[in-house]
Amino acid sequence: MFRIPKRLLAATTAVVVTLPLTLMSTANAAEPHVDNPYAGAAQYVNPTWAASVEGAATRASDPALAAKMRAVKTQPTAVWMDRISAIAGNAAGNGLRFHLDNALTQKQSGTPLVVNLVIYDLPGRDCYALASNGELPATAAGLARYKTEYIDPIAAMLAEPKYQGLRIAATIEPDSLPNLITNISHPECQVAAPFYREGVKYALDKLHAIPNVYNYIDAAHSGWLGWDSNAAPAAKLFAEVARTTQAGLASVDGFVTNTANTTPLAEPYLPNSSLVLNGTPIRSSTYYEWNFDFDELDWTAHLHSLLVAEGFPASTGMLVDTSRNGWGGAARPTATSTSTNVNTYVDESRVDRRNHRGAWCNPLGAGIGERPQSTPAAPAASHLDAFVWIKPPGESDGASTDIANDEGKRFDRMCDPTFVSPKLGNRLTGASPGAPLSGHWFESQFVELVRNAFPVINGGGNPPTDTIAPSVPAALQAGAITNTSVALTWTPSTDNVGVTGYDIYRGTTLAGSSSTASFTATGLTASTAYSFTVRAKDAAGNVSAASAAVSATTTGTSNPPGGCKVTYSANSWNTGFTASIKLTNTSTTPLTNWRLTFAFANGQTVQQGWNAVWSQAGSTVTATGNAGSWNETLAPGATLDMGFNGAHTGTNNAPTAFSVSGQPCTLG
Ligand code: BGC
Repeated sequence: MFRIPKRLLAATTAVVVTLPLTLMSTANAAEPHVDNPYAGAAQYVNPTWAASVEGAATRASDPALAAKMRAVKTQPTAVWMDRISAIAGNAAGNGLRFHLDNALTQKQSGTPLVVNLVIYDLPGRDCYALASNGELPATAAGLARYKTEYIDPIAAMLAEPKYQGLRIAATIEPDSLPNLITNISHPECQVAAPFYREGVKYALDKLHAIPNVYNYIDAAHSGWLGWDSNAAPAAKLFAEVARTTQAGLASVDGFVTNTANTTPLAEPYLPNSSLVLNGTPIRSSTYYEWNFDFDELDWTAHLHSLLVAEGFPASTGMLVDTSRNGWGGAARPTATSTSTNVNTYVDESRVDRRNHRGAWCNPLGAGIGERPQSTPAAPAASHLDAFVWIKPPGESDGASTDIANDEGKRFDRMCDPTFVSPKLGNRLTGASPGAPLSGHWFESQFVELVRNAFPVINGGGNPPTDTIAPSVPAALQAGAITNTSVALTWTPSTDNVGVTGYDIYRGTTLAGSSSTASFTATGLTASTAYSFTVRAKDAAGNVSAASAAVSATTTGTSNPPGGCKVTYSANSWNTGFTASIKLTNTSTTPLTNWRLTFAFANGQTVQQGWNAVWSQAGSTVTATGNAGSWNETLAPGATLDMGFNGAHTGTNNAPTAFSVSGQPCTLG
């Protein structure tokens, strides 16, 4: 019979404890190997990661944001064995036994529990990049250590009878075999190749021998392997390596795509990658470079058919890492473009807002994607076992500057927001500034991921039981207009099921919310035309399509809130530059709804900015605070640091005419 550990016996005599009952009845019963381990199962929530999220929620000054973070905190994320010391536990986090023991306590009676575990320490790891170079060299000695000091102890622990009641889903070595397909001409990958093959074979063998462990090989993403010229050799390589194991193809349960990447699950406004627009296939666009696979639903279906052709069974399951591929927020398109130009059509329609599909490091604008779930609603051809969160949101992909460390991590310029990368067709990386080393907590990115989540995160606690998209308010008209404010009214939404309020947009910028059918936009510039739209929303944050726009022009001259000082500096290279701006409120009253404008003289353009909402019309650039956020108001004497990456054509003089809400600022 199951022996109750002494510690638990003592507890049962002291208080009424329900946990040991759960443990006794089911937790330790051996889990048979099933086809889809996620079916009917819950997934393990990493308490260490959840504590980082709670820390962020505690520091968030916006209560609505904090509530959303607390909803994210309850989501399952993978545990990364990213170096040998991660097995026992190190300064970066608790060890494997801590997680397995916690998983036992999380397991509810009658519901299997899947622990997502990442096997990530191959000799010569990350051969085509630098940010996650590992600890083991691509040598015979490195491989020997991989086997005896890394895989063997992990396998030994997973095989303990104590853990036989858990389901362990192992993500096998992100990026490794895919690198051998596309980057084999790179010297480091050439050297690493035999060790990747042998290391993956060894991991598959050892882990497959444990009945409750499931092997999912990392299969990159659609923007990496989607082209047939990459996809077919990849499926062949996966089969080739699997065939070298003792169990052959049966050592593989499935494949996981989009690990730690931000490629969308679906491109809702580009549903047909074969579409031909005015005689030009949309896949020939600069963005898709002839790739048929626009998203992970395309890629999983494509790959599955190739795997089956290679001899893998039809039951082979697919996982998609959806932790950061949501692409919501104000920049998300809401309809298919009407342009007849293929590039404009694609660029205006795609929800993936990256500069290039190869950009992988902390991409600006990304959001949390679908929540982890088993057998999600998806086309049958994709054979999805589950959506999983392999990359824990909030953990960096790599440092944006060179940071000394003893983790074998190096400075990869793909993580540097000022870098124009030849790997990205000479475009800026689009990486977030201020990033710490890979795997380290990156709070400002986490805030963005939560803000840009799609589906939106319901901070209210219980997920909505309906899928209401409230109808658009019928009529919107401007009311009173003064020199710096516009009063708007509209006919309330007729969809009275679940409408709790309205979001008001000034152009594309969220200007505020209202629970009634009126709103006054303040802090505007005198004698300026503005356009407003309104969206109805329900308690879960679902929003309607935008109402018709109304335009209103403010009157007279500005009555600005007070003085301002601006310091501008820029780093310029070839045709790009990074600008940093410090805006100080030199008045004695708070500067609310501030609106900074300035003018470029040499045709410069703003590409991507931070710590403000940026827009540009002709030579005039405008920056405002993020509505409802910490930077919307500047206290007397306070300074806000903001900046942007820009492009220029050779001459890059500093802009002029800095003013806030129409009042000129002094330059410092
Ligand atoms: C890093 C790991 C980290 C993982 C999850 C990888 O890029 O190299 O150290 O554990 O991301 O955040």
